[in-house]
Order: sequence, then C-alpha cells, then structure tokens
Amino acid sequence: MVRSEGPRWIVGKDLPTVSARLARHVAAAGRKAVRARGRFRLVLAGGETPRALHAALLRLPRGAVPWTRTWIYWGDDRLVGPKDPDSNYGMARETLLSHVPVPSRQVFRIRGERRPTRAAVRAYARTLEPLLASPEEGPAFDLLLLGMGPDGHTASLFPGSPLLREKAATVELVPMSPRPPHRPRATLTLPALRSSREICFLIAGGSKAPVLRTIEARLPQGSARQPASLLLGEDGGPPVRLYLDREAAGLLPRQRWKEGGRR
Ligand code: 6PG
Repeated sequence: MVRSEGPRWIVGKDLPTVSARLARHVAAAGRKAVRARGRFRLVLAGGETPRALHAALLRLPRGAVPWTRTWIYWGDDRLVGPKDPDSNYGMARETLLSHVPVPSRQVFRIRGERRPTRAAVRAYARTLEPLLASPEEGPAFDLLLLGMGPDGHTASLFPGSPLLREKAATVELVPMSPRPPHRPRATLTLPALRSSREICFLIAGGSKAPVLRTIEARLPQGSARQPASLLLGEDGGPPVRLYLDREAAGLLPRQRWKEGGRR
C-alpha cells in the first residue's frame, strides 16, 4: 500500500455533520470490503468523540453497514473492566454494538480487567496475530478509526513515548496514561495501526486546533512530539482522511476549509 499523496481533510460545520459524513464513508468501506473479501474488519476509536460517529452510524438507512459481516477491534483501551466508565469497549457497547447485529463472536475487545496488565496486552497481541502475521495477504484491517488528543496523541501513543519506535510488537502496555483518564492502557503500535487499508481520524473541538495547525504545517514530515502526525506522512502508509469540525479546523490554512481539500 503506497500512499502517493498526503491526507485528505474533510471539514464539517459541527461534529454531528462531519460524523454523518464519516458514517457514510464507514458504510461504503464496509460494503466494499464485504464485496471483495466477505468481511469488514473495523477498528473502533476510544475517547468521547466517537459517540457522535456511533450515533450517526445508527441513523444510517437499515442495511447501509454490513454489520453481520463486520469484525470489530479496538486501537487501544484503558485496562479496566467492561463496566468501568473509562472503558472504550463499554462506551462502544452502550452507544453502538448493543444496537446493531454484529455477532458477539465477531467482537474482539481488549480484556482490560485481566491482571497482571501485561497479560491483557499479550492476550490482545495473540488475538491480532492471525491478522498481522501475514502481511503478504494484505493489511489486517479494512478501516481503522482514530481520535487525537490536544497534545497530538492517538490511540494511547503519547508524545515522546518510546513505544513510537517499536517496530516488531503489535500491542504494548502504557503502565499509566499521562493524559486523563489516568489508567493503564493497552495500545496498538504504529506498525499495527498502519496495517489497515485506510485510516480515518475524527477530531472535534477548539482544543485540538493548535496541534492540528502544527501537524499540517510540518507535513509531509511527522514528529514524535505529535504522534498522530507519524501516520500522516507520505512514507508508504495507508491513505488517511481527517474528519474535522470547524472548531478543530479553525487554525488550518483557508484552503483546508474546502471540504475534502487535499494538501
Ligand atoms: C483513548 C483514545 C484517545 C482519544 C483521544 C481523543 O482511549 O482516550 O484512544 O486516543 O482518541 O484522547 O479523545 P476525545 O475524543 O475524548 O477528545
């Protein structure tokens, strides 16, 4: 998968509007994957922003997303139980998965309640191994969803983390998140995140505007100071789309405001 150009920037007037655009894109990606390979491997994002996407997915016409042929994974999670309010899995179950017909055998959560925490990380790496072990058969995932923090972190890859240099491991432990919620985390590494046919970020709110401006200005160079930027370069990674509300896009050059504007 050689990306020939930079990321695509899609700006909507507000989070519900841009989430609806991303939901339609997720549905189209799902139908395309099922036509081509009989299944749709979708990686969900954590944090709060995905709630808007999940609501938009539920508003799509019946049948738009091939849920019965969808396999669900996570790019990271807090190492807590599924009922803990900090659980990314718990949030997805509440806002999406309990409302769509994805068979439970096709939902692969990070078992954050396992202890010691490294056991939870090793178990998820084993879960992903069949998908990641044979890159010659193509990327592990069809669509990988991510968010981004105001410091440019994505998944649970934080600025300056040594995990950003990891080339072999697919899932790593963050013993204690430097950003709230301050919980131990399991996160996919950059090689695992890159093993997707496409990556879509959903980013909203003015707090993200300064780091997005920094990232955009430095493209195609990325920096470990803004981990999300390491997925946006032109280094042969998968195609990337950034879905932004106007607040998050507020400091970008005006040409970015053309919806879908490319660099
Ligand atoms: C997590 C996420 C993290 C999140 C960003 C944005 O588990 O917290 O993986 O990377 O996407 O922190 O979070 P918000 O959507 O809540 O702003």
